[in-house]
Amino acid sequence: MMTNNIKLQAWVDEKAELCQPDNIVWCDGSDKEWDDMWDIMVKAGTARKINQEKRPNSYHVNSVPADVARVEDGTYICSKEEKDAGPTNNWLDPTEMRVKMDGLFKGCMKGRTMYVIPFSMGPIGSGIAQIGVELSDSPYVVTNMHIMARVGNAVLEALGKDRDFIPCLHSVGVPLAGGETSEPWPCNPDNRYIVHYPETREIWSFGSGYGGNALLGKKCLALRIASAMGRDEGWMAEHMLILKLTNPEGAVKFVAGAFPSACGKTNLAMLTPTIPGWKVETIGDDIAWMKFGDDGQLYAINPEAGFFGVAPGTGMKSNANAMLSMQANSIFTNVAETDDGDVWWEDMTDEAPAHLIDWIGNDWSPDLDTPSSHPNARFTARASQCPVMASEWEDPKGVPIHAILFGGRRATVVPLATEALDWNHGTFLGTIIASEMTAAAFGAIGQLRRDPMAMLPFCGYNMADYWGHWLKMGQTEGAKMPKVYYVNWFRKNQAGKFIWPGFGENSRVLKWVFERCAGTADAIETAIGNMPTLDGIDFSGLDMSDEDIANLMWVDHEGWLSELEGIEEYYDTFGDHLPEELRNQVKALRVRLLAEQKAVA
Ligand code: OXD
Ligand code: MN
Repeated sequence: MMTNNIKLQAWVDEKAELCQPDNIVWCDGSDKEWDDMWDIMVKAGTARKINQEKRPNSYHVNSVPADVARVEDGTYICSKEEKDAGPTNNWLDPTEMRVKMDGLFKGCMKGRTMYVIPFSMGPIGSGIAQIGVELSDSPYVVTNMHIMARVGNAVLEALGKDRDFIPCLHSVGVPLAGGETSEPWPCNPDNRYIVHYPETREIWSFGSGYGGNALLGKKCLALRIASAMGRDEGWMAEHMLILKLTNPEGAVKFVAGAFPSACGKTNLAMLTPTIPGWKVETIGDDIAWMKFGDDGQLYAINPEAGFFGVAPGTGMKSNANAMLSMQANSIFTNVAETDDGDVWWEDMTDEAPAHLIDWIGNDWSPDLDTPSSHPNARFTARASQCPVMASEWEDPKGVPIHAILFGGRRATVVPLATEALDWNHGTFLGTIIASEMTAAAFGAIGQLRRDPMAMLPFCGYNMADYWGHWLKMGQTEGAKMPKVYYVNWFRKNQAGKFIWPGFGENSRVLKWVFERCAGTADAIETAIGNMPTLDGIDFSGLDMSDEDIANLMWVDHEGWLSELEGIEEYYDTFGDHLPEELRNQVKALRVRLLAEQKAVA
């Protein structure tokens, strides 16, 4: 189906003239289109069909070593003014960038097909959803978008004649001018640009075919552009999972959670509780869009339709529900091939197969030092295939969020669970999320990567203005904001061992969060926030000593006081964009820490 949308038709014509593809194909999201794309990719040597008996209708693709992850140094926020991109984003004057982009995109699709991919982020028709259209010269992008978003004619129908959409232009950046055939994984690593124009809400991506660089609905639209839209329109686009938590009596709370990349967000979203009678179901594993409902609560949708998860580390033990989601109709990128034509990656099973073909194409056996799969290898799986999707996951009005979790990977200082005193304090906790970059030795604070609200690579405007937006949301007339929690599954003991078992046992912390929201659990007010009473978190049946438990829960006054210095230094980098309230939060916390330290001494 072509479109009768005037703006869309004009935009496709204009970009076709710029990129000069041999053909233009309008994508309908059908099974036939899926098959056609894979035929093309199998013939081009891009993809391999996985053994149909092992994993029906699934494909294995390997990229090249130069194109395996998001390129943060090539990602730009081209707002009119540099101060609106802020110190955490790359910026170039949009006029200058447009000239550069026009130069790169000119003729870049020669010899290739331009696919027009209409997609909806969120259920079509939801008041929180947004429509985008991606033009791409990559059939791999088409098939991944089939899984990650709602693609096809229904979107064009929803667009109608005059509804607006977010234009997303993508090219792998390798024209085939002389009629030569394409390489299996075309990309242009010397010219990689992932460019966002927040004021005009446009995305231009050049040179990479991988993940967040190329599937423009995900990080580019649903986080960078959407965060700027949320600022202007009074809603929130967050790097958060959403889960539904049901207690043994059948009462329900919805919890959102922001954690930096590779901190176990997908595992938490699909967790199998170890405590009897409790149930976790999934709404989303990566992104939440939240808008106020008439009752003043924040309602969230998952704008995505699939999971683009990190494969290594995922197995039946760590995340059975993810494994079950990808039993069929899935895509695997940069993983290893087994002798029976299936896929494998590190920790999928306890024992590695005796022989594999690794993601580079070499013979592999467990005695080698190199991993068989790239550490950022991915599975693309349909959310509808996940056995624990909540019945509400496609509810157009979203689900009411009762609690927000923040967490990072911290060996020291941050205890297992703390509840914010109020929304402003919760916002402060979000701004101080950080992860140790390496396995820091015990006692040393280690090198910290600050990742406020887990949005460092994804905030489409000035980070400090974004914090201001969080504070402002809490001041909205009639707002009933969620409770906020700071959790840390990664605290270590003196011997350098993780104290907390994590995975399904995290349900014990979720239970405390639930009971706090329900008003049935007590807490102790400490300098850093409300903490569980001694029996607040159920530690029964865990092989943990009293010392371990005390270690998980103790307030490290010294550690926090020195942490505050680092936070103030970090805040200073935002100059006068920093909301005064956050400085006040630091001051008040310091006063509370000193007072409490004195009282316990
Ligand atoms: C992701 C990420 O791919 O956060 O989800 O990097
Ligand atoms: Mn993510």
